[in-house]
Amino acid sequence: MKTYIVGNWKMNFTVGDASVYLHKLLKRIKPARNLQVAIAPSTIALQPLSLQIDRKKLKLAAQNCCGKDYGAYTGETAISQLRGMVDYCIVGHSERRYVFNETDQQIREKVAACVRNNITPILCIGETESERTFGETRDVLRDQLSSGLKDVSREDLEKCIIAYEPVWAISSVKGARPATPDDIANSIKIIREFLREMYGKTIEEKMPVLFGGSVNPSNAGAYLTIPGVNGLLIGGASLIADQFDDIIETAKKVAS
Ligand code: PGA
Repeated sequence: MKTYIVGNWKMNFTVGDASVYLHKLLKRIKPARNLQVAIAPSTIALQPLSLQIDRKKLKLAAQNCCGKDYGAYTGETAISQLRGMVDYCIVGHSERRYVFNETDQQIREKVAACVRNNITPILCIGETESERTFGETRDVLRDQLSSGLKDVSREDLEKCIIAYEPVWAISSVKGARPATPDDIANSIKIIREFLREMYGKTIEEKMPVLFGGSVNPSNAGAYLTIPGVNGLLIGGASLIADQFDDIIETAKKVAS
């Protein structure tokens, strides 16, 4: 299976700055077999960057999309409008769930919209600090998975990626701390068990599961060698070329 390194730029960079940064990344990154690098810039930068990108080196991801394909939804961007620009779309990021109060129903519709439009959803799941404290991690992960994937047909499940992002480990969250490899291994086990139970061994083995939350060049190697982890979703460190590049180099070594 491929290793995925996905940079989530969140609401950073003007279109001009994004283009300059992409130029820098394209000069540094060499295509590598078994490694897929992607960046998720703001929606407004997707179209210009899609003309600049070298898809052999990296691909584009959207950070969010609407669950409908068109219609009277002021301010929204349909994933159908991003076809041809992006290969991936992050769905259900904790900032969407908790800052913008996205519901399970909306997240499920977004996942289905991506699949319908041949764009790979990266479905983010993860427990909050208090859910973890109250021992609810297993239930939360299973609920978010079963709800998020509910409208995806069996054949289309192979087009989905899961990202485990414990909310308490996301660098911008107050009081955040990096997860230990044991924490992560435990949750990955819960996720893989659920996939096996619900969809069988083949899907469990084929579905990439990424980890995200305070990933940086010093912990990336340890995170990437956790059994069942197939890549990283990176926020803060993806905004700094040296750090993102270091993580890609580490991933190349692990993937080869
Ligand atoms: P972080 O963000 O790497 O800055 O913790 C990860 C994310 O929110 O996807």
